[in-house]
Amino acid sequence: MSEQGFKRFRRRGAPADTMPFAAEDGGRQPAMAPLAATVSAAAASAQLPATLPDPWDRIRQVPFDAAAQAQARLPLVSRFRADPAAKSFDLLRTRLLHTLKARGWKRVALTAPAAGCGATFTAVNLALSLARVPDSRTVLMDMNFRRPGAARALGMTAPGQLAGFLSGRVQMEDQLLRPLPSLAVGLNSAADQDAAEILHGRSCAGVLEDMMLRLGADTALFDLPPVLEHDDTAAFLPQVDGVLLIADGTSTTAAQLAACEKMLAGHTQMLGVVLNRARKADSPLN
Ligand SMILES: Nc1ncnc2c1ncn2[C@@H]1O[C@H](COP(=O)(O)OP(=O)(O)O)[C@@H](O)[C@H]1O
Ligand SMILES: [Mg+2]
Repeated sequence: MSEQGFKRFRRRGAPADTMPFAAEDGGRQPAMAPLAATVSAAAASAQLPATLPDPWDRIRQVPFDAAAQAQARLPLVSRFRADPAAKSFDLLRTRLLHTLKARGWKRVALTAPAAGCGATFTAVNLALSLARVPDSRTVLMDMNFRRPGAARALGMTAPGQLAGFLSGRVQMEDQLLRPLPSLAVGLNSAADQDAAEILHGRSCAGVLEDMMLRLGADTALFDLPPVLEHDDTAAFLPQVDGVLLIADGTSTTAAQLAACEKMLAGHTQMLGVVLNRARKADSPLN
């Protein structure tokens, strides 16, 4: 979509609080068991540790090697802080945090009109940018069961299928990983065609609520499938506070964006449209 096309779309129908945003092409491919009744209260307290370990600290830390990522040509822009693409993500982070804080929100879905627009690219780079905010906790969940992509984009190996965790069969500590001290990721090892059922499932909402509470997360990003291709995204919308829509500056049309907004309207709040693969002239940093 051209700059004019993007502006025309915004003038025509984008909500007033929509955050238009251009991410430049990086070019770097870019509990506790009940106590036995016979145990006295004093004896019980003597057996317990003074404080239980923070669940966040129990999420396994894994090495996250920036040099290896660069060699593998992963599209992570955080290594190049002076790069316009990295600056774009930091600007998006700041504006997103401002909106979330003003509204008391934490959960953000990222989706796109079609596959390949850069929803995963944006989710991963935005998560890495959020994780650099001091004393913050960010969670990134790969909820695209059709084409899981977060693990590959991060250069990490998923410990298993996310469906097990969302259905309550797998413990949070066995599924989530921490590539950075302030970032926890829920990765998915394989595609699953029962995506909408998993996301609609009774346990999914409860598991995510419990995860947010136990982790004390400030922000959670959910990488979702394209909104116009599957009903998975619509099934998941009740779980999030708002949506960031990722448009591909080279292929997304105004008609597609309008169709997405129509699909999303009434189900969630549109936090903004991110223009990915924008040309230099489209960048707000110019
Ligand atoms: N701005 C960008 N700069 C460089 N590579 C990008 C950019 N946006 C997306 N890509 C690459 O394009 C491919 C598709 O992006 P992806 O985020 O997986 O799309 P989606 O999740 O929307 O299907 C990936 O290889 C990704 O690394
Ligand atoms: Mg993706």
